[in-house]
Amino acid sequence: MIRVHPIGAALGAEIEGIDLREPLSDEQLHSLESALVQHQVIFFRDQEITPAQQSAFARRFGAPQCHPAYPHVDGYPELSILESDRENPSKIEKWHTDMTFRPNPPLGSILRARIVPPKGGDTLWLSLAAAYEALSEPMRKFLDGLRAEHSFEHGFQESLAEPGGRERLAQALADNPPVEHPVVRTHPVSGRRCLFVNCLFTTRIVGLHPAESDALLEFLYAHVQRKEFTCRFHWRENSIAFWDNRSTQHRPENDYWPERRRMERVTIEGDEPF
Ligand SMILES: [Fe+2]
Repeated sequence: MIRVHPIGAALGAEIEGIDLREPLSDEQLHSLESALVQHQVIFFRDQEITPAQQSAFARRFGAPQCHPAYPHVDGYPELSILESDRENPSKIEKWHTDMTFRPNPPLGSILRARIVPPKGGDTLWLSLAAAYEALSEPMRKFLDGLRAEHSFEHGFQESLAEPGGRERLAQALADNPPVEHPVVRTHPVSGRRCLFVNCLFTTRIVGLHPAESDALLEFLYAHVQRKEFTCRFHWRENSIAFWDNRSTQHRPENDYWPERRRMERVTIEGDEPF
């Protein structure tokens, strides 16, 4: 039996009593799916798994989705490498939901720590369900009917501005034209309503004047980042975080430069938000 220890009021739980080197039983799969949906991000400690085991674990929850811009582990295109060091400081600074530039953004991601800095390098998550539920009823009603545009180009503008960046990412740009999603999506399992805009990929709210859209998005970004909707996780080598990408945002704490940090991530395909 797995044991679930919540770490925050709004979201986050540590899971004990499971060895991810072993194939998951159906009962374990069911328990982890329930814990993921309820706690929105779940954490595991001391899981010394191979790339093949990480990939096999992810596949029990859905099909892996490759990332168009990140390097990957040799022989495992589904295992993205997120690495930073003295020469390559982390470029990800903003709160975001992963890959909302896709028509069907990921169900979730499974991130494993390979190399952790001696100090710092935590990751924070926030609950988009708790954030939505804390809004006033008139605001919730207003947001419920709206749609927003999300764009790969917007999210990767810094990489695209680098010398040769636009050439390197030309195929990713062509493959990922802007898409629209509801501003509030319904979680397909829990039924909870979740705010589904993020400052990394969302460009505008459809139908509003630009000034209205900018002001509303700015308010929503500030609102979701309120401390009571967040939790924080301190990594050790072989820690794993598995987040529900339908109901959360996350952000790394870039407080460890020039130390090295290397993470490996499998992202699981999700369905079209509604
Ligand atoms: Fe991310």
